[in-house]
Amino acid sequence: MLMCASLFYFSVCLGTDMKLALPSSLENHYEMLRLLYTGCQVVHGNLEITHLQGNPDLSFLQGIVEVQGYVLIAHVSVRSVPLDNLRIIRGSQLYNSSYALAVHNNIHHSLTELGLRELHLKSLTEILLGGVYIWENPLLCFPQKINWEDTVTKIENKLLHLQDIPKNCELTSRELYHHTSDCLLRHLTFVLCSSGCLRCKGPKPNDCCHVECAAGCTGPKDTDCLACRHFNDSGTCKDNCPPPSIYDPNTFQSKPNKDKKFNFGATCVKQCPHNYLAMEVACTMVCPKANKEVITVKPDGNETQKCEKCEGECPKVCYGLGMGSLQGVSVVDATNIGTFVGCKKIYGSLAFLSDSFKVNAATNSSGLQLSDLEKLKTIEEITGYLYIDAWPDYLLDLNVFENLKVIRGRMLYKGVFSLGVQSLQIESLGLRSLRSVSGGIVLIHNNSRLCYTSSLPWNLLYCYKYFKMNTYWAEAA
Ligand SMILES: *[C@@H]1O[C@H](CO)[C@@H](O)[C@H](O)[C@H]1NC(C)=O
Ligand SMILES: *[C@@H]1O[C@H](CO)[C@@H](O)[C@H](O)[C@H]1NC(C)=O
Ligand SMILES: *[C@@H]1O[C@H](CO)[C@@H](O)[C@H](O)[C@H]1NC(C)=O
Ligand SMILES: *[C@@H]1O[C@H](CO)[C@@H](O)[C@H](O)[C@H]1NC(C)=O
Ligand SMILES: *[C@@H]1O[C@H](CO)[C@@H](O)[C@H](O)[C@H]1NC(C)=O
Repeated sequence: MLMCASLFYFSVCLGTDMKLALPSSLENHYEMLRLLYTGCQVVHGNLEITHLQGNPDLSFLQGIVEVQGYVLIAHVSVRSVPLDNLRIIRGSQLYNSSYALAVHNNIHHSLTELGLRELHLKSLTEILLGGVYIWENPLLCFPQKINWEDTVTKIENKLLHLQDIPKNCELTSRELYHHTSDCLLRHLTFVLCSSGCLRCKGPKPNDCCHVECAAGCTGPKDTDCLACRHFNDSGTCKDNCPPPSIYDPNTFQSKPNKDKKFNFGATCVKQCPHNYLAMEVACTMVCPKANKEVITVKPDGNETQKCEKCEGECPKVCYGLGMGSLQGVSVVDATNIGTFVGCKKIYGSLAFLSDSFKVNAATNSSGLQLSDLEKLKTIEEITGYLYIDAWPDYLLDLNVFENLKVIRGRMLYKGVFSLGVQSLQIESLGLRSLRSVSGGIVLIHNNSRLCYTSSLPWNLLYCYKYFKMNTYWAEAA
């Protein structure tokens, strides 16, 4: 197994979009979570902690303070998930369209007596949107003790689904101590506030937090918040980031604002992070309709990437999976491979799964043949991901992508992988032009005949396992 991330990856942690899926093996899953969340404070997507067993070191979760989407803890049988510093879940994406926090089906291994017993959510004081679902965790003993009315300020009753305390719930005295201290440490920042406060640090009227605070505060100012309700502008909570132009009352005109910043999730940034496209006021992964992507290479070799309004019709582009005419399509097959003929840049992704090569009676199409795959030879750039877990056995490499130079990884397979090559019979990768994988994680796994390769841009990747600093690596059998 080989797992790598772009060197720029670590400036932003994106979270995932896997739900309950296990996209690789159990071992890879743990390594992947470790790679995703080591050093991470703000998760700019969903935090999905799933498929963990035994007694792994999960201390890498302890730095997480904010989650932009939802938090899911499911199908784990570890004793505790240490999210001690998590203060706010924004709920900008919800699990099952309803929940900002879902903890479910964390099974009890009868043999090992392992199972989820503790949720260390002692700092969680704000869920901005969405409900809470804690269900079918046979060993989890204390969810009722959390004062959810304080955390989820505008809860509708139906969105609070809490399991009963399990009958066989026997807390050892050590656990009891931990739970009680969790409760003591966790100060209330809503239910006890004097009326008119959104959040407070105590019951007195002058304990009110600034209106821009979420979660709580240490004082009355917009710089004293524990988390920001809208945007964090270098430590000050604001309802908007500094705009691109400001009105000058002397000239009666608006003029460019030299201090302008971009919205990036709930923070204001001077420049969009690597791999993001700059729009007028925000950073994005995909340009909106009637806009085109403009990439300029600066003299230092760095690229700036932005979206620009098209004058008239936008230039025609080749869409990949997940974009334009292939929105909602999840696999390359005989019905759509024709759309890639002659394309250099694919706006979107390419995925080759077993369905790509099966005869489809419904559409009366045959599986992809070599002659179809050769139509991909012109491709030089993919803005999303390239994921391959099925490939004809008679093809010993991925040579049809020999001209592919850049995988931008602005869309990721399961919200994780920019390049995935799994369970193939290939002997070499054959991606000889590939010089950049800009986002996401690269996974090369379970290709039993793939022994040596030098065709990945190693100098731009941080690799996690079995990676030797030189040009060659040997895949662990
Ligand atoms: C999520 O939604 C699916 C389908 O709507 C349903 O079968 C499942 O039980 C739901 N799960 C939870 C946790 O609500
Ligand atoms: C705002 O962001 C800075 C990092 O840029 C961080 O140190 C600070 O804790 C954040 N403040 C809040 C209230 O989230
Ligand atoms: C390119 O940008 C990165 C990050 O913004 C910076 O660290 C790096 O020094 C730049 N490269 C050059 C050649 O200036
Ligand atoms: C399916 O394709 C075959 C040959 O390509 C053709 O003979 C047959 O009539 C087609 N069947 C349907 C249902 O379209
Ligand atoms: C590994 O690949 C083989 C096919 O080469 C497949 O049958 C097997 O299920 C794969 N194993 C895993 C763990 O993905």
